[in-house]
Amino acid sequence: MAIERTLSIIKPDAVAGNHIGEIYDRFEKAGLKIIATKMLHLDNDKAGGFYAEHQERPFYNDLVSFMTSGPVVVSVLEGENAVAHHRELMGATNPQEASEGTIRKDFANSIDENAVHGSDSVTSAQREIAYFFDDKEVCPRTR
Ligand code: PPS
Repeated sequence: MAIERTLSIIKPDAVAGNHIGEIYDRFEKAGLKIIATKMLHLDNDKAGGFYAEHQERPFYNDLVSFMTSGPVVVSVLEGENAVAHHRELMGATNPQEASEGTIRKDFANSIDENAVHGSDSVTSAQREIAYFFDDKEVCPRTR
């Protein structure tokens, strides 16, 4: 299997709920390595740009408003099949449809405030990682 990188965002609801450590714990226990991380309070431009592909969707303004409502933690995760593996750990977009034991099942309350984001493809991951991190902020593991 290929070693991939993916972008994770711990969203304002999960940060406010004090779940950063528990979510990181799930990543690390699953074998995903955190190779870059920072806490940010996004402004409208940064959050709006990140979700630009959803600009025409009815929930776009509410999504940007939620993502700017408090700090988020953005990270780069690396590991085998990291994009799909991370999305498995996250669970379905709508927490009511998420499987038992997933992050969204355990920490999210609604589709509007669903605790975490993960890139949906290797191509998206490359774009999303570059949106938040300079190359020098990413620290690949040698062991
Ligand atoms: S969808 O609905 O399956 O096409 O969702 P997706 O394309 O994966 O991502 C949509 C992002 O918007 C967030 N969001 C919502 N989606 C659907 N419906 C509502 N009401 C909604 N509110 C917010 C959703 O969590 C996705 O964001 P990320 O950050 O990628 O999880």
